[in-house]
Amino acid sequence: MQIATTIADVPPRNAGKGRVLVPTMGALHKAHGELIKVARETVGKDGEVVVSIFVNPLQFGPGGDYERYPRPEKDDEEFCRKLDVDLLFRPSAEEMYADNRSVFVDEGSLSKLLEGKSRPGHFRGVCTVVAKLFNILQPDAAVFGEKDFQQLAILRRMVRDLSYKIDIVAVPTVREDDGLAFSSRNRYLNAEERKQAAIIRKALVIGKASTKLFGSRTDLLHVVRETIASASLARIDDLDLVDAETLQPIESVKPNSLLAVAVYFGKTRLIDNILLG
Ligand code: PAF
Repeated sequence: MQIATTIADVPPRNAGKGRVLVPTMGALHKAHGELIKVARETVGKDGEVVVSIFVNPLQFGPGGDYERYPRPEKDDEEFCRKLDVDLLFRPSAEEMYADNRSVFVDEGSLSKLLEGKSRPGHFRGVCTVVAKLFNILQPDAAVFGEKDFQQLAILRRMVRDLSYKIDIVAVPTVREDDGLAFSSRNRYLNAEERKQAAIIRKALVIGKASTKLFGSRTDLLHVVRETIASASLARIDDLDLVDAETLQPIESVKPNSLLAVAVYFGKTRLIDNILLG
């Protein structure tokens, strides 16, 4: 496995071979492993799988967890080696951003909804760094998880609107045995919070099942809210029923609806979603 820490060190693409990128912020776990496996399946055994690890300061708000975000460099490197990654790109913040940077990639519609309401500037940071990674690493395809459903939708929009010739490959959410979606942030949870966090998935599944009885926004969100409230440490930050394409709130369940939720356990904000209809 080659490791590049500067843009100048990134090897040029091998002529005739594909390259698939898995952008990450590190603290790699089972769900990243799944993204890397899908990248390998997509590019084939002769192609290149590239993993980037960069904790992107631009996508963290003031008071966010940028400083405390886990950075287990050696473990991450080992993880990539075991999964036959060809190139690990692990730049510093100084390498990626000039002090007087003044150009950003700002998606102007989908980013205002859902997560965008409580995390202003977050998706501008995501789009800017992913656009830079695309330019630096020149992949044919890039792989993202469906847990970050809105991120996926916004990056698809960015690729379309900026005419990147890059396929976006989506991978279903990977879950723990009790249904909690894998996330690098799960490691912040104490034992009791971790136990209770399983309520997130449970509430989404109950919400989905309840649409057989009723499909109105008010009733559905009520069921999910009440279920989550049964976990004493859970605090809902956002809960919405939206069209999975436009991410706009909808009044009743229809084909291709998305139920999306963000819940705090202590200071840790966890997100999840489920498709309905
Ligand atoms: O999903 C993530 O881990 C990050 O948002 C990404 C896509 C690597 C950009 O920093």
